[in-house]
Amino acid sequence: MILSDNNVFLLKNDNLAYMFRVTEHGNLEHLHFGAPVELCDADAFSVKYGTGWGSNSGPEGEEFPMYLPLEWSGLGTGDYRESPTEFAGEDPAGFKFSHYKTYDEIVPIQCSLPQAKGKAETLEIVLAYVGGMTLHLFYTLFDTAVTRRAVLYNNTDQPVTVTKLMSYMLDMQGEFEITTFNGSWIAEMRPYRAEVGLSGIVNESTTGFSSAMHNPGFILNQPGANETSGEVIGFNLIYSGNHYARIQRSHEGLTRIVQGISPVDFEWELKPAEFFETPEGVMVYSNEGFGGMSRAMHRFINEHIIPVTWQHKDRPILYNDWEGCMFDFNESKLLSLAKKAKKLGCELFVLDDGWFGERNSDKAGLGDYNVNKKKLPHGLSGLQKKLSDVGLAFGLWFEPEGVNPDSDLYRAHPDWALHANSGVTVLGRNELLLDLSKQEVRDYIVENVSRCIDEGKVSYVKWDMNRHSTALGAIAHKCVLGLYEVLDRIFGERPEVLLESCSSGGNRFDLGMLCFSPQIWSSDDTDAIERYHIQYNLSYLYPLSTMGAHVSAAPHSQTLRDTPLSTRGNISFFGLLGYEFDLDDLSSVETEEIMNQIEFYKEHRHVFQFGEFRRLRAPEGMSIQVSDGKTTIVGLFHELVHAAPGYERIFPEALMPGKIYSVESRKQLLNASKFGGLLKFVLPVKVKPDGIVVRTAGKKYRMWDATQACSASGAALMSGLSLNARFMGTGYDPQMRMQGDFSSNIYLIKEES
Ligand code: GLA
Repeated sequence: MILSDNNVFLLKNDNLAYMFRVTEHGNLEHLHFGAPVELCDADAFSVKYGTGWGSNSGPEGEEFPMYLPLEWSGLGTGDYRESPTEFAGEDPAGFKFSHYKTYDEIVPIQCSLPQAKGKAETLEIVLAYVGGMTLHLFYTLFDTAVTRRAVLYNNTDQPVTVTKLMSYMLDMQGEFEITTFNGSWIAEMRPYRAEVGLSGIVNESTTGFSSAMHNPGFILNQPGANETSGEVIGFNLIYSGNHYARIQRSHEGLTRIVQGISPVDFEWELKPAEFFETPEGVMVYSNEGFGGMSRAMHRFINEHIIPVTWQHKDRPILYNDWEGCMFDFNESKLLSLAKKAKKLGCELFVLDDGWFGERNSDKAGLGDYNVNKKKLPHGLSGLQKKLSDVGLAFGLWFEPEGVNPDSDLYRAHPDWALHANSGVTVLGRNELLLDLSKQEVRDYIVENVSRCIDEGKVSYVKWDMNRHSTALGAIAHKCVLGLYEVLDRIFGERPEVLLESCSSGGNRFDLGMLCFSPQIWSSDDTDAIERYHIQYNLSYLYPLSTMGAHVSAAPHSQTLRDTPLSTRGNISFFGLLGYEFDLDDLSSVETEEIMNQIEFYKEHRHVFQFGEFRRLRAPEGMSIQVSDGKTTIVGLFHELVHAAPGYERIFPEALMPGKIYSVESRKQLLNASKFGGLLKFVLPVKVKPDGIVVRTAGKKYRMWDATQACSASGAALMSGLSLNARFMGTGYDPQMRMQGDFSSNIYLIKEES
């Protein structure tokens, strides 16, 4: 609900509260973002600055803004902290409260920027700027989040050049630590945690997109907060372009947070009567630690960000031909793969790059969406019909924002591509980006992608984008707006088509894309162990239902790591399961193992994709859990093993202490050919560890690893379920988990009726 009394505003529900007030001099004083509180608590939160500090400045006879926790600020007012607004050539002056309105729904954004949807209430605060502009601050209250955005109206008779306009600003009292998520291609989402100090921290992207370098989402926590307790606040931005956030503590103990479109090179001319809308910022609060914050964020995304048609809807298990074929395929190879994928249990066949134009490598053809008849003589519809006969739906890859200079499209329209201001041709993966601020470019993309989707009766699209932009500032923002318009035009009319967005993997994993694509390809790094970390770190800010997670070949092409197939499957279960390698290379035992994996995933798919997620305590490994209340699934993962490992336990959470549960570990196969010289001691016949007999046996036979089953109370399980011993180098016992490096187990915990 939204309450207001005596110049105090309170947005509040059972999970959180956001409160501020209008001061005597028309400033907005931030009072509280956190646990639910009452309107009458305003005074308790309000700062008491007494006679104030020295070196203060401010409008004559008014309070000194520099010492106030504010909801908005401007340059030249006496507030020397980061300003959320800057105009070129304007006389500096502040924004003062004018009036407010409330709505019992969201207030729609007018431009193509996406926004959170669903049940909500909105408070609009209007601030007046000396000289005639007005700034409208929108606060929308959802069940587990508050969103904020700002809209600037030019009510003057002169154009104004906006050089910076953040989506939100707030000053919170107290000390905080910050976690940001940084990285690169095939190295996404590496967390960095630091104290928020007096020098501040900037989290920004200037690549034209949200980027793998600095995800727009970040987390503030009170020192001492951990996975299960303490106050933690998550922030994010519903935007896929250049972003900027600065978080800085003041000497007086106020932490200022601003976030919005990157101001680098930003100049937006706002003519009289025009307005500029900023993307929506998202904030969630939890006093149940990082885990509670993540669950609040997951709920918000699943219910208010994901396209309505796909909310809580099971996602298909797909086979993607990219890592198996790259550009080298033809229809008969694809159909051979499809038949195998179908046998394994896959539901969707995704044809990745290489199907159009002269796209036989990444050097040519991008932009030319005419089917390559040498590879696909019967076109998209021919392939689709054959896939449908096999029993698979058809998915197709596009990279509509890019163009190779060696393409018919570029030869016909060189001016459609974005070029660096320097005049130097800056290529990325041999391509340029199209200028989506141009109507004709947007129309070309909409027409071509739509045509191919309809022709091929495509039920899934992988929308890729594989380079950084050369554009900054206003043009970069216009391209992002253009992209949103294009996505809306194509998929708004085809809501049943499942869109998976991708940008060289997770280079554009953000809430803006998730408003159109329910899922995102998390990383081009498909090494299972690397993926475990990427998915684990994504889970801080994004739900498992958004993470494309495929099983790939071992040894892995990026790390050369030889991870067991069981672990490759177990990690992909905690996301959207798919398979991506040459299935013609599969042995019969691997086929059987994958069939088992898919059968298991199908049985528990909804829990994996939409269950409540937890990162668990795991003294010797890494452990995560999903649960729908009735079925809880715990994954336990190891990296390098040590000899003589100690006892090991798992620590499931959120079970009912007094209820009895059955626990069962998922049956897993072991590749005996990996046991090396050990085989000499356990087999009745002498065999060479790397000899033909063992290698052939490894392809045809597998051993079942030990399983464990018991029943116990929730209380006992939560205090630690003691697991079967791991192999410890002293002999063989069929009850032992015979696991080496990169091993894992899945435990299924079910309420007994
Ligand atoms: C990018 C994607 C990959 C694949 C290739 C195709 O790298 O991230 O998954 O689609 O492009 O060129």
